[in-house]
Amino acid sequence: MKIVILGARGNLGSQLDLVLRADHEVYSFDKEDFDVLDSAYLEQVLIEIKPNLVINTVAYNQVDACENKEGYKLALILNRDLPATLAQLAIKLDFILAHYSTDYVFSGLESHPNFLEDDTPNPINKYGESKFLGEVELKKMEPKGLQYYLIRTSKLFGPNSDNPLAKPSFFDTMLKLATTNDSLRAVNEELSCFTYTPDLAGASARLLIARPTPGIYHLINEGPVTWFEGASELFKLAKKEITLRPIRSEDLDRLARRPKFSVLKNTKLKKMRPYEEALKDYLRIIL
Ligand SMILES: NC(=O)c1ccc[n+]([C@@H]2O[C@H](COP(=O)([O-])OP(=O)(O)OC[C@H]3O[C@@H](n4cnc5c(N)ncnc54)[C@H](OP(=O)(O)O)[C@@H]3O)[C@@H](O)[C@H]2O)c1
Repeated sequence: MKIVILGARGNLGSQLDLVLRADHEVYSFDKEDFDVLDSAYLEQVLIEIKPNLVINTVAYNQVDACENKEGYKLALILNRDLPATLAQLAIKLDFILAHYSTDYVFSGLESHPNFLEDDTPNPINKYGESKFLGEVELKKMEPKGLQYYLIRTSKLFGPNSDNPLAKPSFFDTMLKLATTNDSLRAVNEELSCFTYTPDLAGASARLLIARPTPGIYHLINEGPVTWFEGASELFKLAKKEITLRPIRSEDLDRLARRPKFSVLKNTKLKKMRPYEEALKDYLRIIL
């Protein structure tokens, strides 16, 4: 299969490239190749390659920066307008489109056990709103024949790509802070699922090769936890002596509100392994 990956030096894109390149003709692009926002050039590239599948991992992921006017403008361009353009191109050039979204499309303000694929989004921050608007763009094109896989995921962690600008994950940040601090704080709220990018890339590849009914899918490692619980597991597995203090969401000075509960439930595909097992594998690589 001919596959184009956009955002291929990012956290997830780099893992998708690794997994898919073994068996498919993969064309990977990131910022240094061309700006995906140049729609005319993007179309030209896709006309030349004639892919069967385009996987878009490009996004504006700075959750707090999205609350500012400038940040939100960028978020709309990357998280809403880009998927809209890709959806139009998918119909015009006849390829399948895979796109990623987030647990932050759900409000999760009250204790909510989990969110199913077809639950109605109701974001409470601008990042979630911009990602939801991207979802809407794909749905809008469904009656026009768009074949798409919208994959929601949450709290990514995993090997950083060779991109020096790649955003460090929560676990990376905690490990780094632990080298210079004896005591750390972590929010003991905001329940959701950590997801290991090599696992997500593998599960995405299986989905996109098998091609069940198009639509929304949830792919996350199993085992919802708070940031505090995740950090406790991290330091236990890393055998790192550290005093970890639980705090509330409100104790952190952040611009964007976060859902208290945004656990995605995967009801359509084989479940991914518990995040603790994935974290063990990750620590084996980096420690
Ligand atoms: N990270 C998470 O915890 C998380 C959680 C839930 C859902 N998701 C979703 O999962 C997907 C993948 O996230 P990720 O963390 O792997 O993202 P990422 O690491 O930021 O990767 C995105 C890649 O796209 C590139 N890019 C940005 N603008 C571009 C442009 N105009 N032209 C070409 N390339 C451009 C980025 O380059 P630069 O780095 O140089 O900008 C980066 O290499 C996204 O849809 C995200 O919303 C992520």
